Amino acid sequence: MARITVYLSGSIAAYKGVEVVRGLQKAGHEVRVVMTTSATKLVGPATLNALTKYPVLTDLWGDANQPIPHIELADWTELALVVPASADLLAKMANGIADDAASTTLLATAAPKMVAPAMNRQMWAAPATQRNLTQLAQDGVTIIEPVTGRLAEGYTGHGRLPEPPQIVARVQDFLNQYRQLAGKHVVVTAGGTREPLDPVRYIGNRSSGKMGIEIARAAAQAGAQVTLITGQVSVALPQAPNITLVSALTTEEMLQAVQEAFEPADALVMAAAVADYRPVEVAQQKVKKNHNHGPRTLELTETVDILRTVAAAKRPDQLVIGFAAETEKLLDHAQEKLASKHADMIVANSVAGATGAFGRDDNQVTILQKGLDPEKWPRLPKTAVAQRLVARLEEQLK
Ligand code: CTP
Repeated sequence: MARITVYLSGSIAAYKGVEVVRGLQKAGHEVRVVMTTSATKLVGPATLNALTKYPVLTDLWGDANQPIPHIELADWTELALVVPASADLLAKMANGIADDAASTTLLATAAPKMVAPAMNRQMWAAPATQRNLTQLAQDGVTIIEPVTGRLAEGYTGHGRLPEPPQIVARVQDFLNQYRQLAGKHVVVTAGGTREPLDPVRYIGNRSSGKMGIEIARAAAQAGAQVTLITGQVSVALPQAPNITLVSALTTEEMLQAVQEAFEPADALVMAAAVADYRPVEVAQQKVKKNHNHGPRTLELTETVDILRTVAAAKRPDQLVIGFAAETEKLLDHAQEKLASKHADMIVANSVAGATGAFGRDDNQVTILQKGLDPEKWPRLPKTAVAQRLVARLEEQLK
């Protein structure tokens, strides 16, 4: 049983939102309701008040005795469901606009969010709406796609809200997957390490951190306590109550952070691109140009292999997943890493050329496990790869 806040916004389908509220209650969930002003023109708040036995939040300024009702509600919420989601409310969510009770409470809630858009087919197809949906998906919002059917305008088109029982079923599926990692602690590394040469220069790599960050986000959505250890990343870090962020820029710092976090943890996912070598000496002052303009040699020494070190010493109940970043002979090299690094699983991906994993929003990976045939996954958004990997983690941690 979850605590669900249902947001009704101004779409003709608002009456179906009432049925969704009833369906969720029948399934055992505790439901509270927020309505936009437009929604209150379509459905009476009194109906929802009577159904939920909670006051319906329609206005942030309505009750002088409770000056910040949206924060209390945001904190109470375990899942925020917007049904129906109008083009206007989707636009506000995608852009962080908080100018009424619904948009402000949505922005204030850290709980996972699902939206069920319903609108006229032209509004659905409008580039602005599609752009906002892409943004919401990137922000981790789950979108319940509208269906094709008869619209309120009298013609058939795409944009119709699915029937309430289907929406309730989607919520149930979501909550089930959401809780699979409850009580588990997962450590994820992301981004590239960098090894300083002098106070202003370093040896680094082109990892963006996207893959590891998406894995951390997906594990957190699945209810895990997550420690996300990051080197250099080029995207925003996730903010969630169950994600602890640790910065570790060099391989040595990352080793220490991983060892400390992994000791009490259940699983480690080494998605970081770790430097294999570091300069033997790090100059205290900025290294000056050679006066004779001759070549210069940089002496490097090998860094410790974090994955191998940690996996070799792991307990039998702990799971370790490594990555393999290759530009050629992907499977051969990845198989070698599976064996030599003592990992339970290697996620092999190509980092060659324009379709290579570095920096992109999608990835094509092959999963390697001892004694099993390599499993090639299709090219998918990194969010989807992360969700699939987390589903694997759930199976193996059971
Ligand atoms: N890794 C690590 N510590 C290192 C190097 C790599 O923990 N010093 C981890 C990476 O996080 C990844 C896996 O080992 O999970 C494979 O990394 P990859 O860069 O593909 O391979 P390398 O071990 O560095 O080998 P090579 O550079 O020869 O491909």
